[in-house]
Amino acid sequence: ASEAEQDDLVIIGGGVAGYVAAIKAGQEGMKVTCIEKRGTLGGTCLNVGCIPSKALLNNSHLYHQIRHDTKNRGIEVGDVKLNLGQMMKAKDTAVSGLTKGIEFLFKKNNVRYIKGTAAFADEHTVKVNLSEGGEETVMGKNFIIATGSEATPFKGLEIDEKRIVTSTGAIALEKVPEKMIVIGGGIIGLEMGSVWSRLGAKVTVVEFLGQIGGPGMDNEIAKAAQKILKKQGIDFKLNTKVMGGDVTSDKISLQVEAAKGGKEETLDADVVLVAIGRRPYTAGLGLENIGLETDDKGRLVIDSEYRTKLPHIRVIGDCTFGPMLAHKAEEEAVAAVEYIQKGHGHVNYGAIPSVMYTHPEVAWVGQNEQEVKESGVKYKVGTFPFSANSRAKTNMDSEGMVKMIADEETDRILGIHIIGPNAGELIAEGTLAIEYGASSEDVGRTSHAHPTLSEAFKEAAMATYGKAIHY
Ligand code: FAD
Ligand code: NAI
Repeated sequence: ASEAEQDDLVIIGGGVAGYVAAIKAGQEGMKVTCIEKRGTLGGTCLNVGCIPSKALLNNSHLYHQIRHDTKNRGIEVGDVKLNLGQMMKAKDTAVSGLTKGIEFLFKKNNVRYIKGTAAFADEHTVKVNLSEGGEETVMGKNFIIATGSEATPFKGLEIDEKRIVTSTGAIALEKVPEKMIVIGGGIIGLEMGSVWSRLGAKVTVVEFLGQIGGPGMDNEIAKAAQKILKKQGIDFKLNTKVMGGDVTSDKISLQVEAAKGGKEETLDADVVLVAIGRRPYTAGLGLENIGLETDDKGRLVIDSEYRTKLPHIRVIGDCTFGPMLAHKAEEEAVAAVEYIQKGHGHVNYGAIPSVMYTHPEVAWVGQNEQEVKESGVKYKVGTFPFSANSRAKTNMDSEGMVKMIADEETDRILGIHIIGPNAGELIAEGTLAIEYGASSEDVGRTSHAHPTLSEAFKEAAMATYGKAIHY
């Protein structure tokens, strides 16, 4: 094909990675096409991930709080009833509003949006199987593959998204299960387990490792989180393997076994959530037609500028290396377009925050204490409990703490770990501090408004290089 027939950039996948790259490319004046097969933009995050789960987390928290935590605040309420259908509708409204918003942004930034499934025919051509029928050929000078990820299946348990569910079924259950088993005590397991536990289900989390929270969470914080979630009514079976399951018309029985020692037990449930991680999704992409391969984890292999071995084809987001997080995908999207357009881009992988949206939230950025210890760097730790923070006290929401880890010699901040109210918002300050190479003293000598939760952050910094005032 002649160059004139080729778009400057063709993006496969309209999730966070793909849509952000498309908007950025449009802003840069590139002729850009984004192909998405789902029927709506926003990918996993907006349709079945971040957004619907946070809608349910927020409203289930309100429901739970109104039921259990009003009297001592001087609020007397009458009968509190759950209207699950309406709670789901509220979630759907958030999702549809946001996905349509992206379509609007596409129009505003001259992004051509094709609804359909794309597969490479050759190195500069994709064939799109259009959602409305028929086929279209799209040619590009550059490509970005942003096809995302899918739930890792659990061998021996067939997902029907009704009784044996991934997160996709777990955000759309039609009634509150009496008993729910969650396989995998990572972020999805704890967020969705919290939702259904608050709404009345008896939730048991079965985790293979000796600690909840999934990869990255600081041990001390994970232990604190488990204690608080247990108090909220979630049961944990750590160091436990699921061996298999029997599904009958009225219940699901799971055989579990202690990871060490082999003690067996059978657990019953109405709904089982499989949340043992996600894996890259590249099925049907025609990779074989262009000679691109994935590694043993299914990830497309790239260099530091997101290029595959075909340098005009780049890969970003969940289908390649790094944490499977929406904001990581977003950073990569901007950087990848900048590499194409300007020859340089930037993502600081050492400063990507993680947030678990339970109550209280857990958030962290940088290295956890286990990692710092392993690296051999001499370090110091400062902590500050929310029980000594005036705002948390006035809000009657004071469980948790801020923990800061800094280099003992230079005082440079290496990691920040928060469990507590609004931890997900507070971590932004930590991310900025790490991005700017701040020392704990830089943060501790910065004025923070009173009374705010952010003072706990400042005081944890003070405790790292010296002493906190209020603890
Ligand atoms: P995706 O969002 O998966 O998008 C890929 C898109 O490509 C999909 O829409 C797919 O239909 C499309 N596609 C695939 N193949 C083709 C093809 N051949 N042709 C056309 N289109 C194709 N992250 C956070 O940061 N914060 C959160 O709170 C959070 N909550 C989550 C909650 C849940 C329940 C889940 C499952 C995930 C959550 N995540 C969260 C992770 C986040 O959703 C992902 O990191 C993010 O969606 C990755 O974006 P992506 O664009 O790489 O992939
Ligand atoms: P995860 O990797 O966070 O946790 C999976 C957990 O399952 C781990 O603790 C692991 O040890 C355990 N596990 C693995 N195999 C097991 C087995 N056979 N039996 C019992 N336990 C087993 O994965 P999760 O929770 O599925 O989430 C996937 C990804 O989605 C996350 O890593 C994250 O990237 C993203 N996500 C992010 C959210 C956020 O940012 N708030 C929310 C939800 C998902």
